[in-house]
Amino acid sequence: MRVLFIGDVVGGPGRHGLAATMPELRDRYAPDVVVVNGENSAGGMGITEKTAKAIFDAGADAITSGNHVYRHREAYDFLDRAERVVRPANYPHANPGRGYTVIEVDELRVGVINLSGAIGLKVARSPFIEVDNILEKIECDFSIVDFHAEVTSEKVAMGWHLDGRVAAVFGTHTHVPTADGRVLPQGTAFISDVGMTGSRTSVLGVKPELILEQLITQMPVKFETAEEDVWVMGAVVTVNDEGLADSIEQVMVPAQA
Ligand SMILES: [Fe+2]
Ligand SMILES: [Fe+2]
Repeated sequence: MRVLFIGDVVGGPGRHGLAATMPELRDRYAPDVVVVNGENSAGGMGITEKTAKAIFDAGADAITSGNHVYRHREAYDFLDRAERVVRPANYPHANPGRGYTVIEVDELRVGVINLSGAIGLKVARSPFIEVDNILEKIECDFSIVDFHAEVTSEKVAMGWHLDGRVAAVFGTHTHVPTADGRVLPQGTAFISDVGMTGSRTSVLGVKPELILEQLITQMPVKFETAEEDVWVMGAVVTVNDEGLADSIEQVMVPAQA
């Protein structure tokens, strides 16, 4: 079974780029299951029912998120209802949404777990202990993890923590793809960050001139989502009968217009 995981979809340009490119991705990678990080899908920050629907319509089987998930208040009720949308599991239990889900694909139950790093991001509990607790109770044939974290050291550590216990650990949040994709010795595919799905004429999805203005003047600047040169970024993992990975391949393709 092949799992296609797509990094943070940024705003309208990311959503449209993903939808336009998915047929090509299906041809090229023949994924059985598609999981997409949607935390930036609504106006560059956050997710709404509408943008989640657009990602599902593009072909996603499940959507993960991260620190921007609660940006849009009107989405809270949707997050509680949406069984195939997850937010970091190590947020306060009472927060809207769920931290993991199980989707059924070709009679296989695929666990999709979302965790947030604890370094530089706000969490209620350690992601390492949280994922141990989830793996004890989740009922599925194999799991994949979206580890939404800031720091490569914490991400790499999570790869080792989960090696041999999940099929894949995909890093997200930095929007910058890393070159360290590999299958760890016990069979878990790992990459520190898959990158984002959005404009490359940008700083992490935002128009470069606005980020530069803020960095140079140190004054508040209203961010706008960049639109030019959209790329789709992610990774494809081949999962074997043991629920572990045989391979991981990075995905970086210019979006179809
Ligand atoms: Fe993001
Ligand atoms: Fe993030």
